[in-house]
Amino acid sequence: MASVDSQRRVLSGMRPTGRLYLGHYHGVLQNWVKLQHEYECFFSIVDWHALTTEYDDTGGIRQHVRDMAIDWLAVGVSPSASTMFIQSQVPEHAELHLLLSMICPLSWLERVPTYKELQEKLSHKDLSTYGFLGYPLLQAADILIYRAGLVPVGSDQFAHVEFSREIARRFNHLYGGEDDFEERVQTAISRLGKKTGKLYTSLRRTWQEQGDGEALETARALLKEQQSLTLGDRERLFGYLEGSSRLLLPEPQTLTSHEPKMPGLDGQKMSKSHGNTIVLRDSPAEVEEKISRMPTDPARVHRNDPGDPARCPVWQWHLIYSDEGCRNWVQEGCRSAGIGCLDCKRPLIASIQQELAPIQERALDYEDNPELVRSILAEGSERAREAARETLVEVRQAMGLTYR
Ligand code: TRP
Ligand code: SF4
Repeated sequence: MASVDSQRRVLSGMRPTGRLYLGHYHGVLQNWVKLQHEYECFFSIVDWHALTTEYDDTGGIRQHVRDMAIDWLAVGVSPSASTMFIQSQVPEHAELHLLLSMICPLSWLERVPTYKELQEKLSHKDLSTYGFLGYPLLQAADILIYRAGLVPVGSDQFAHVEFSREIARRFNHLYGGEDDFEERVQTAISRLGKKTGKLYTSLRRTWQEQGDGEALETARALLKEQQSLTLGDRERLFGYLEGSSRLLLPEPQTLTSHEPKMPGLDGQKMSKSHGNTIVLRDSPAEVEEKISRMPTDPARVHRNDPGDPARCPVWQWHLIYSDEGCRNWVQEGCRSAGIGCLDCKRPLIASIQQELAPIQERALDYEDNPELVRSILAEGSERAREAARETLVEVRQAMGLTYR
């Protein structure tokens, strides 16, 4: 069986909640578009996750999934460079979720911060359901089913990735342990050959005794190069670097991008519930209208009052869209009241319109070709299934669920 290079595998997911906005583009999607050329990427439209909160109104999901797929494609997520798929079309996620549910302590789920937070925020809904409580575990299954080492998400998701790590650790501890682990490890090391075996042992010691992350990386790279290792030995040697069990499910890490954060039109977080978004499909006229209405530094009541960009949400947008020359012009002009706020907004309007034009053109092409979108998602889901099945075979085996 093919072994997986987890350090090169990326998984991320997005709930199908309708049209995507600029915040998604700058915060997440641009990063995905870049990552797809550097890693083996799986991008999932997580329709089951939508059900955890929208179970009482499922009529829109189908359309939302399609709209979101088109937005992804339009911004450049490429079906040939990455695998984009619909979560529910890969039922293996559900099997892993079930198996993990057996080892997941209730208290771990109850203390995930988003659990109480969202329940309070969505207090008009009854979210004391089994599915909603299990949401982070479903997310863990989404990640672990691909043995993805890297998860590009925003800070609101860090707790969920951390939770996935804890579940992976528990799984490895419960099912990756072997009575004769040490012995098997020593045999595996001897199979590396004298020189490589020595190097592995000393790198492991440097990592374990001095916490030298570079030694860990080098040891991992060394193992990766070993073509002749069996899968079992590989898992043992990877596991031995960090503990005393096989690494059946590697622990995922978040992968953060360093883009400046894009607030909503009013300076708060951009979100549908705040009504402060620009969606990727907004027309040039809508963009102009929305930016023109953006609030500015409250101290600038009159055109002649000087302002301070630090107190203005428009400035945050300049940080994303404008070059240094333009930014200096804003700083200068704002503080000296040399420019008016509408002047200040004009280059922003133009940049956003320019950015959106090609995206919207591509989106139209896909809108006109629903069959193409359907087949991209079907093929992606099939590819994802193959990878997911490989993991499940090992998971079932490790848990003792093999009957042949
Ligand atoms: N919980 C994520 C969100 O609300 C969506 C998600 C589901 C996800 N499964 C995932 C993100 C796996 C990353 C990896 O945004
Ligand atoms: Fe904000 Fe620009 Fe107006 Fe200054 S000039 S308050 S930065 S919009």
